[in-house]
Amino acid sequence: MIRNQWYAVLESNEVKPRRVIGTTRMGEKLVFWRDASGQVACMRDLCPHRGVALSTGKLIHDHIQCPFHGFEFDTSGACVLVPANGAAAVPPKALQVDGYPVRDVHGYIWIWWGEPRSEYPSIRYFESIDASFSYATVHDHWAAHYSRAIENQLDAVHLPFIHANTIGRGQRTIVDGPITAWEHGTDESYRLEFWVSNREEDGIPARSSRDLPKPAGRPQIQFQFPNVWHNWISDDVRVAAAFAPIDDENTMMYFRMYQRVALLPVLRQVFNLIGRWSNFYIERQDKRVVETQQPKRSGLKIGEHLIPGDRPIIEYRRRREALIQKSLEQPPD
Ligand code: FES
Ligand SMILES: [Fe+2]
Repeated sequence: MIRNQWYAVLESNEVKPRRVIGTTRMGEKLVFWRDASGQVACMRDLCPHRGVALSTGKLIHDHIQCPFHGFEFDTSGACVLVPANGAAAVPPKALQVDGYPVRDVHGYIWIWWGEPRSEYPSIRYFESIDASFSYATVHDHWAAHYSRAIENQLDAVHLPFIHANTIGRGQRTIVDGPITAWEHGTDESYRLEFWVSNREEDGIPARSSRDLPKPAGRPQIQFQFPNVWHNWISDDVRVAAAFAPIDDENTMMYFRMYQRVALLPVLRQVFNLIGRWSNFYIERQDKRVVETQQPKRSGLKIGEHLIPGDRPIIEYRRRREALIQKSLEQPPD
């Protein structure tokens, strides 16, 4: 995992008002809950009293209550009540549940994975997806490290093989380029963009990205570190994904179809339903092969032999490695 980043880890609507959910993300058991004001909390799913999973508790007065001895904690993880000591007693400061900074934006719950800061960078999502779009999401559990799942969405070479009857129809096996570019946000957030151009075998070898002009228009694919992706199908239809790390061998995939073609409520529902099913069908084509990749975790030196068509994956690996190194060197502020 790259530290000091905001990770999309759940969809917003998975954390219902006044409900508690326990789940594993980033290799840790976590509990998420939402208080009456809508504020989401994320903390370790472990009561500091005697180790019970807080996700088995319930919400009382906007506090999470451990089911074992009724200790209550607020959204910051501070203990606010030890019933056995009496309501008039001040709870010991040591009874603190470790938590993570949380944001609830763009329909995702994001957690800050890294050193605490006095000020956190803003979360970058895809600016061209605005409130005029509606969306429907497919969730799917992949038994793959999230880096492998991301690389699959950066893979221009697999289309005519894995998706021969869907998005890879036409046997366009030759991959020219792809042309890649980096876009940096003001807060040093990194975004990989690329343009893909595949064609049928015609006896002419693949053209190197060096020999191709940078296309003037918008990129087809954008990947925003550390874990969100966007495919610009058309101005009014997009596919986007978030790759929520569960642990080193598992990822929760969120595939969204955004659209603003069908605006009337019934049509919108039908369109979104079709979008969900097509995303589901296509991602299942990928899943069955990505889950077999070894080693589970991607990296720069894992003994693979990449080809020019894998350029976006090479770019991703280099940047990922650089960000991991940078976060190791960064002193906490
Ligand atoms: S274990 Fe949670 S209150 Fe005792
Ligand atoms: Fe695919």
